[in-house]
Amino acid sequence: MNHVLNKTFEIAEKYISDHESRPVLPYQSPEKMAQRLDLHLGEEGMSETHFFQLLEQIILATPKTAGEGFYNQLFGGRNFIAVAGEILAAVMNNSMYTYKVAGPQILLEKEVLRKMLSKIGWEETGEGAFAPGGSMTNLIAMIIARNEKFQSIRNEGFNGMKLTAYTSVEGHYSIMKNAGIIGIGRHNVRHIPSDITGKMRPDALRSQILTDIQDGFIPFFINATASTTVLGAFDPLHELHKIAREFGLWMHTDGAFGGSAIMSQRHKHLLDGAELSDSFSWNAHKMMSVPLTASVILFPKKGLLNKHISEHADYLFQSDEDDYNPGLNSIQCGRKNDALKVWASWKYFGDEGYEKRINHLFELAQYAVEAIKSDSEFELFQEPEGTTVCFEVAEKSSKEICHILDQKGILKVGYGSARGRTFIRVAFVNPEITFANVDDFFEKIRQVAKELAPTVESAYAPYKLF
Ligand SMILES: Cc1ncc(COP(=O)(O)O)c(C=O)c1O
Repeated sequence: MNHVLNKTFEIAEKYISDHESRPVLPYQSPEKMAQRLDLHLGEEGMSETHFFQLLEQIILATPKTAGEGFYNQLFGGRNFIAVAGEILAAVMNNSMYTYKVAGPQILLEKEVLRKMLSKIGWEETGEGAFAPGGSMTNLIAMIIARNEKFQSIRNEGFNGMKLTAYTSVEGHYSIMKNAGIIGIGRHNVRHIPSDITGKMRPDALRSQILTDIQDGFIPFFINATASTTVLGAFDPLHELHKIAREFGLWMHTDGAFGGSAIMSQRHKHLLDGAELSDSFSWNAHKMMSVPLTASVILFPKKGLLNKHISEHADYLFQSDEDDYNPGLNSIQCGRKNDALKVWASWKYFGDEGYEKRINHLFELAQYAVEAIKSDSEFELFQEPEGTTVCFEVAEKSSKEICHILDQKGILKVGYGSARGRTFIRVAFVNPEITFANVDDFFEKIRQVAKELAPTVESAYAPYKLF
């Protein structure tokens, strides 16, 4: 094992030093990649030497998601303390369902949940659970909201009731996907218009609910988003909560992306009203920069997870320590330890360290905004509230720019669309990014854009705010 670990760390070191010279790899088609790498699983095994050579080749061909080349999605960075936790979790391989097989790992998971609950103000009364990703924590919220609406559903089944769920046009697609999965029906998700800044419009939500009630639907779930995926907008939680209470609906706050802003004194006001929600999703693998995946669903009231999720399994839950057997509260049976890396990172940085890291992400976004405003070639799509920044290059296609940057191995950054425009969305979730990296990012965009012919689409009409 020691030998294998040494080999593994050798490859990890090579990957990291390769990163310095090649933060982004040039694109290779799946066909070429498959030809180049011996991935075929056959009858015969191979020698250890050849195996590690091949493994190294594969690892070095894999896109790099930490560092100055990656702005493509809402995860990234290489927080080494959390990486240490992740590696050790794999070495230990405890399943997080019982205290019997995970011991102190269960205690530290409970501590992470307690700490997160305390940030929302739910420490005394609340509970939570880990799940692999925000899509899944949103799923758990929807299941529990549905079952709370009709207490018979868990045992008797769904019986074709026409329930409706509400999210904004900017809300995450997992709400739609989950509606399909849990039998609500994708067509019964209402996408409520957003205002000019990307926040859900409470007036539009209210009138849609009234229409649905009139048409015989049963509204049950409002998904408020705390930092939308593309524009980074924070929905008006107080106002949405009022509507939820008026109609007796569940209010979920999807803080998968922006939930971590609650760790910053300067930015936590963006989540004012989160404490009023019935459930809250929070991804540590986004702004807290721990390795994928680490997501948490939190509730202000204890007992809901157990009520709607737990099952008896004599072969597994064999002690009286049910409070320490989180398998009773989770939708998985065997469950990976995602808590250790979050706990390790929080223990190491402390609240203060994390606050600085989160603040830095917002500062990077503001720095990017200034860079965009100071160059007449660039047009800011809108002032960001969060840590994504959306902009266009005059008369050039955002899609094409992103495509060329990727094909040539210059940068990984994606595009998004809203209000009829397609723009480049740069996401700041990695606190290791520096202001100099941001300068370099824009310089690379300029260089690529310069070589592109103006598009027909942009007889450039920047979006007028009012
Ligand atoms: C607002 C929001 N909710 C949920 C998700 C889904 O999270 P995950 O990728 O962990 O499933 C995302 C992902 O970007 C998101 O931005």
